[in-house]
Order: sequence, then structure tokens, then C-alpha cells
Amino acid sequence: MKFDLIELLKNSKSKFFREFIYFERVDSTNTFLLKRHSRFDRVLVITDFQTSGRGRFARKWISEPYKNLMFSFGLLIHKTEFLSRLNFWVTLSILKAIEELFSFKAEIKWPNDLIFNGKKFSGILIENIINEKEAIKSVIGCGINVNQTEFPKELIDKTTSLKLLLNKEISREILLARIIDNLDRSYISLKEKFSEIYNEWKLNCKLLGTNISITDGKNVWEGIFKNVDFNGDLVLQSKNGIKKFSSGEITICKE
Ligand code: BTN
Repeated sequence: MKFDLIELLKNSKSKFFREFIYFERVDSTNTFLLKRHSRFDRVLVITDFQTSGRGRFARKWISEPYKNLMFSFGLLIHKTEFLSRLNFWVTLSILKAIEELFSFKAEIKWPNDLIFNGKKFSGILIENIINEKEAIKSVIGCGINVNQTEFPKELIDKTTSLKLLLNKEISREILLARIIDNLDRSYISLKEKFSEIYNEWKLNCKLLGTNISITDGKNVWEGIFKNVDFNGDLVLQSKNGIKKFSSGEITICKE
């Protein structure tokens, strides 16, 4: 079934977004918003099918049509320090929506994946256009595996969905409505009480304090996952000292 915008609006109390756009099919909701020059701020775009969905590290984001959530929203940011906070805000809003609706506690995998038992079901791609004179255009794209139950062979060991985890069909409209309400409710904290979001995010961050390896796609480093700082950077205590990473892919390190 197609995503139902009316049902979404019926379930959300939030006035945070100014406009909602639904496409049954689009290249990528992130690309659509990046290309849009006016009416961009606080506009949410949702689709049932992406022909060129993108993930982090220029990977493809493939999602079965009509089953999952794929949406992006635009924000105009006036202070660069907010950019690194977006990640915490959005990841936590999704995590909490799932916990509130289904009493199910997922885990955060740095920087912004949601996982359970080592399998990922949600990812975020944040892309920014920084123009020196104007405000920064930020596009936050979220992909959540909701009702998909079959995955390509090469993904089966690493990927799951909420339906597989909870053993029931989930209303995408009710889930997105709750995510939106959470984004709205905690937006003020981004500016005024960021430490609240930051601390809660860290409490749910899997692997913190453990031995990990981290790769940027070319090199691999090993060490203790010491911290995620206020900027969202991962702090690794390696044999050669402290090293910070602003992006990368982490895995548990077998000792
Ligand atoms: C990742 O984990 O690699 C991030 C995945 C982000 C996927 C979403 S789906 C909606 C939006 N449009 C895109 O092309 N990508 C994001």
C-alpha cells in the first residue's frame, strides 16, 4: 500500500514541518531537496520508491517499495556548531519513537545507525551545502527498514527490519508521526540544552568502552572506543595514542 500522508498528519501533533511532499517514486529524497532552492527549510519529503537511493560512503540504499520509510527533510542552519548536533537529535528521535511505540530498545551504532543484535535496520545520511554568505542548507535523509522481511543474500547477516524484530506489521504513518513529534519536542534542546540529548545518546551508544576497529574504507585502526565528543567525533585510544574520527565504520574487535 502507498504511504498515506493524511494518516500521517492525523497522527502527528507537530507543526514543525511547513510542508509535506509525497512521491510514489523519486530518484532520492535527499537529491530532491538538495536541488530545491526555495521552500526548503522544514520541508519533509517522503517516498515509497527511490531509483537512486544513497547511503553513507556513496553506497546505494536499496529498499523494497511500499514497505519501509524513506524520507528527508531540509533545515536552514545559521550556526555551524549545530551541524554536528543534528546527528544526535535525529538518531535519538527515531530510537525513542520505536521505544515509545513498541517498548523495544534498539541500540545506536556510531555515528547514526540503529541496530539490534548486530543487525542494522536504520541509517541516516546528512548532506550539507555550505555557502559562505548564506545559511547552511542541511538535508537529513533517513532510511528505516520497517516491514521488509526479505533481503538480498549478501545483506542477510547484517540487516534486519522492525517487522522481523517485533514479529508484527507496523504502521509506517504512525511511526513517522511519532518520529516527527519527537524531533519537534527535542528541537529546542539542540539550541538550549544540548547536553541532555548528548548524554541520552551516549547512554544508548553500543560498543562505547569496548575494543573496536574503525575503517575509513582504506585504513583500519584498532583501540578502545573511549568517547564520542560534543562534535560527534569518535575518540579512539589506540596503541599510538588518542585519535579522533569524524566518520568511519566501526566493528567489534575480536581479542
Ligand atoms: C546509511 O546508513 O548509509 C544512510 C542511509 C540513508 C538512506 C536514506 S533513504 C531517504 C534518503 N534518501 C537517500 O537517497 N538516502 C536517504
